[in-house]
Order: sequence, then structure tokens, then C-alpha cells
Amino acid sequence: MPKTTKDILSFDEFDERRNPPPAETDFSQIVDRLVSRRRFLGASIAFGASAFVMGTTALTPSPAAAAGSRLAFKQVAANTLDTVTVPEGYSWHIVATWGEPMWSKSLPFDEATRGTGASQELAFGDNNDGMSIFTDGDHTILAVNNEYTNRSIIHGNRESGLAENADDVRKSKAAHGVSIVEIEQKDGRWNIVLDSPYNRRITADTPMEITGPARGHDLLKTAADPSGTNVLGTYNNCGNGMTPWGTYLACEENFNGYYASTDPENKVGDALKRYGVGNEDWGYNWWKHDERFDISKTPNEPNRHGYIVEINPLDPTSTPKKRTALGRFKHENAAVTLAADGRVVVYLGDDERGEFLYKFVSEGKYAVGGDNSDLLDAGTLYVAKFSDDGKGEWVALTPESTGMASQAEICIHTRMAASAVGATTMDRPEWVACNPNRVEAYCALTNNKNRGVKPNAGGDDTPVNGPNPREKNLYGQVVRWVPVNGDHAAERFEWDLFVTAGNPVVHTGPEAGSANVNADNMFNSPDGLGFDTTGLLWIQTDGNYKNTDGFAGHGNNQMLVGDPDTGEIKRFMVGPKECEITGITWSADRKTLFVGIQHPGEKGGSHYPGGGSSVPRSTVIGITRDDNELIG
Ligand code: FEO
Ligand code: CA
Ligand code: CA
Repeated sequence: MPKTTKDILSFDEFDERRNPPPAETDFSQIVDRLVSRRRFLGASIAFGASAFVMGTTALTPSPAAAAGSRLAFKQVAANTLDTVTVPEGYSWHIVATWGEPMWSKSLPFDEATRGTGASQELAFGDNNDGMSIFTDGDHTILAVNNEYTNRSIIHGNRESGLAENADDVRKSKAAHGVSIVEIEQKDGRWNIVLDSPYNRRITADTPMEITGPARGHDLLKTAADPSGTNVLGTYNNCGNGMTPWGTYLACEENFNGYYASTDPENKVGDALKRYGVGNEDWGYNWWKHDERFDISKTPNEPNRHGYIVEINPLDPTSTPKKRTALGRFKHENAAVTLAADGRVVVYLGDDERGEFLYKFVSEGKYAVGGDNSDLLDAGTLYVAKFSDDGKGEWVALTPESTGMASQAEICIHTRMAASAVGATTMDRPEWVACNPNRVEAYCALTNNKNRGVKPNAGGDDTPVNGPNPREKNLYGQVVRWVPVNGDHAAERFEWDLFVTAGNPVVHTGPEAGSANVNADNMFNSPDGLGFDTTGLLWIQTDGNYKNTDGFAGHGNNQMLVGDPDTGEIKRFMVGPKECEITGITWSADRKTLFVGIQHPGEKGGSHYPGGGSSVPRSTVIGITRDDNELIG
């Protein structure tokens, strides 16, 4: 177990340690891989342009494709500055930052201690991620995930850089979850409204209800909750979603990193292993002060996390609901759209190397102004199978198709269900976004150094294939699909790649990236995605920022804008050192674009946003145009 922050691994390396590569001595495995690759190469020729030059061939070109560039701003050059850079004619300001008071009784952020349990419970959470804006009359409410904490920063007052006592753990748990704040604009800048009745902190200790098929299942029962229906807390909420009926969806991602065992001999079952749960945690030390996180004492607790959590952001007394019908895995975000007949469709990625892409289609239909409160409790959960010929299908996960005992079990052990039907292993599905102008969706496949090299945690092979076309993929790509018949409920789709990221200065061939990547806009590891109302795709990165070798010229993590019609991509923003850019939403008047700066200085090299020798703090910023015009 980590003794200091120096021993902490990245999430990816943590998973890797849980699932070490097998010794590759199985000849048939090697042959299988080669055959798969050959099949892909053949298929590439068959569908002409091939993956690497896509991005210029929209599946459904619109008349706009013939017009001039829709990206009417001067591109920002890559850089490694410790600040935010936006195009000429645009400005940015701080909206909310980790540790910022939400009530007048809150204490101001203390640079020396980085706060206490009590102060953090009354303050904006850490590591802001996915977010959405809601409006209620004249009020603007911002709901923001607080994904995790950088132990070396939040516990920077401790020699070990880790939580060392019960109050440190209380602070850490309170820094997680979701922050809901009313914000108001004064002199062009948005700020938190102290003491707003909308303000709410949801943390790793907030009571929630478990709903849907897995509610009450034996695997969800604990001594503290023998009914398997009530759970405390949500943590590691990554991307998000927003429903047409005005609720917020928080998506539980790397929940596995919070559990450990006081008994080193504790036997971890295969199901927990598939999710990366083991006898050691990721350095949070919650298990030392809360038995829920000790899997030798509470072995079912990890089964109660890894879900989509639905929250009513306008009612601070409402109980958040874990919607098990949408499956249990390392949820990235939840892209909500509607089928032609009004059923709700939610696209969902599972962000781990070689895991899958999912879709939920509700049984009931969305009714404007009606009771939509339980729409996410019943429906069909599908997983994607891509073919190298540019086609694909959604396979329903049912007891019949998976051989599993019940829908409840499928909703708890979703990864195993998807493996059972032979779903396509993907290069870490991050955010999905749906184009508001036409029926299509995009998913960022951030990178996967194990592609073609090592199976996923369930032992599924990860051969190079159509949507994941590069072995040991370091740069990532964005795949998009169009459902047949123009209906998101359809079980078949056609796909292509909008972009394969790369470095055309350092490389030739596949590592250079697709034709719409050049020396001026290159980037790696697409992660956050969001469409604006005009149908432009905003792409946020969480990648390698060393700016040397194969990443030379990529600079810090950044945000770009892509035109789905032409494939054109331009860099709009560069973040400060060692951050990732994640989370995107707009003010109701579309004149402010809110963007998240997460974990600046995760390796000790940033003092954003305060500068000088200040503690680096994750921050939500607002970007406005100096001429007060619309952004997207
Ligand atoms: Fe929290 Fe997959 O990013
Ligand atoms: Ca992400
Ligand atoms: Ca990422």
C-alpha cells in the first residue's frame, strides 16, 4: 500500500498492477492476433479511404461542408505556460475553485493546511470534472463533479502527503462527490452566490437510494444496509450527463481505487478483480477509518458503486438515485438523447483499456412536463460490436444473450455480460457526445498502450481492429457512428473515425494521425467531448504533456474545436501545466463557455491559478468574447 504520495500510481498503472500482462507463450494467441490484423488490413482496402484518412468524409455531409471554415477564431499555438491561453478577442475568468466557500459560515481556503474536514464540507470540491448548467427562473445553477483528489496536494500539509488521521479522511471524502452552486454574473464575471438555497455538497457520505433491476439484490446487501437499497456516497465522478427533464447525471468511474483490506490474506473473487478491486487502495486511506472501504469486512460495498447517479440539482433535499439499469463499470459520462419515438437513449463508455461502449434505451417515453422521474429504471442495456467494414451492431445484454442468471446480475457485473456476447474491446472509451443537428454520436477513445499486446482485465483479446486501428495506441482517436434509419434506438449503425490523433512532425504513417491533424493543431489523448448548439464538436485532452519525443509540440493539455462536416480541427485553448481539461457547459445565453481545469500541478510543477508559490487548485473557468457575442 502507498506509504507516501511517491508510491501512488496513476489510475492506469494501478489497473495494470491488478492485471499484469500474461507471459506470451501461447502460440495460438499470437496467431489469432496476426490473423485479426490481416483481416483488418483487408477490410481497410475494402472500404476505401481507410481509417487514417477519414475526417474529411462525413457520413452525412451537409450543405455547410461546401462553405468556408466555421471555426472563426485565430488558432492558439501549443504552449507550456502555467496559465490558460484563449484566442485573441476572448477572455477567461475564475468561476469556482477547490476549497472556495459556498456559505458565509464557510472558512476561507487555508494555504497552509489546505482545509479540514469541517471546512471542506462547506466548500467547493476538488478536481472538478463533468458539469452542467441549469436554470430556474432567473437563477443559474452549476452542478459539477468533483472526481477525486491529488493526495500530494490536498494532504500537502502532511509529511507522507497522504491522509494520516480521521479528519484527513473526512476532508478527502468531502472533497469528492458533486458541488451544486448558484452562480451569478457581475461585471461580466460569474461567481458563486454565497448562501444560495440551491447550494449543496454531495460527498462520499451522502445518503442515496439504489434503484432499477439490481435494487435489493443479495450482492448489494451489507450489514449496514441489509435491504441492498440504500447506500452512502458517490465518488470518482468523472464525466456527466443532463436529462431533458432537468436532472444531472454523475458518473462513477475509478471507484475501485478506494477499497483495501485489513486482512492481507483476504481472498479477492474474480468479479471484484474484473473491476480492479483488490486488497490495496490507491492511497486514499479511507479504509483505515471507515469499514465500508475494508473489503475483508464489507465485501459487497464495491458492488454498490460504479453506477450512474441521478440528482435533482434544483432540490437540495432530494435523495440522489443510483440507476443500476445503466450498468456497473468505470463510467465516463452519460450522453443523453431521444429515440425517434421519444424513448430515452443514453450512450455510456467504460474507461479502461480494452473495455466496452454501451447504450441504454428506456422502456418508457419522455413526456414534456410529465413524470419522467423513473425513466432510467427500466429499459434495455446494449453493448457495441464494431465490424471492420464500417458497420456495427448493438447487442442487448439479457439473461438469454449472456447466460447470466438475471438482469440484476447483468446490471452489477456488466463487464462480464459484455464479454459473454463478444463485444468489441475499445481503446478506453471516454466521453460520448451527440450531434444536436443530426442523428450521430462521437466517442473519444483516449489511448491504449495495450492494444494488440495484452487482453483486457477479463481476458478478452484486444486485436487491432477498425475503430481501434493502431497497435500500442499512444495518441487516441474519435470514433463516430450514425444509427441506421436515423434513430438512436436502432440496433445497427455505420461508423467512421472523425480523427486519429498523432504527431505529423515526428512521425510518418499511422502515428502521424489522420489527414485533419497537422503541425499546428496536433494533440493527444482526446477525452472530454461536447457539442455546442451550432453543431461544432469541442474536444478536450487528458494526455501526455511532456512536450518531447513523440509528444514534442503538443504542449499542455488543451481544448480544440472540430467541424463534423469538414473534419477541420483548430486549437481553441491551452491549459496550465500538468492539468487536464475536462468539463464543458454553456450559460443559457451562450455567451459564457464554462470549462474545467483539473489537477494543475499534479506533479508539483504548477501554481495555477494563484501564481507565486500558491497551492495549485482545480478550477472552473468562464470564457467570454470581448465583443459580447455568442460562443457556440
Ligand atoms: Fe475520469 Fe476516464 O476520465
Ligand atoms: Ca475523462
Ligand atoms: Ca482521461
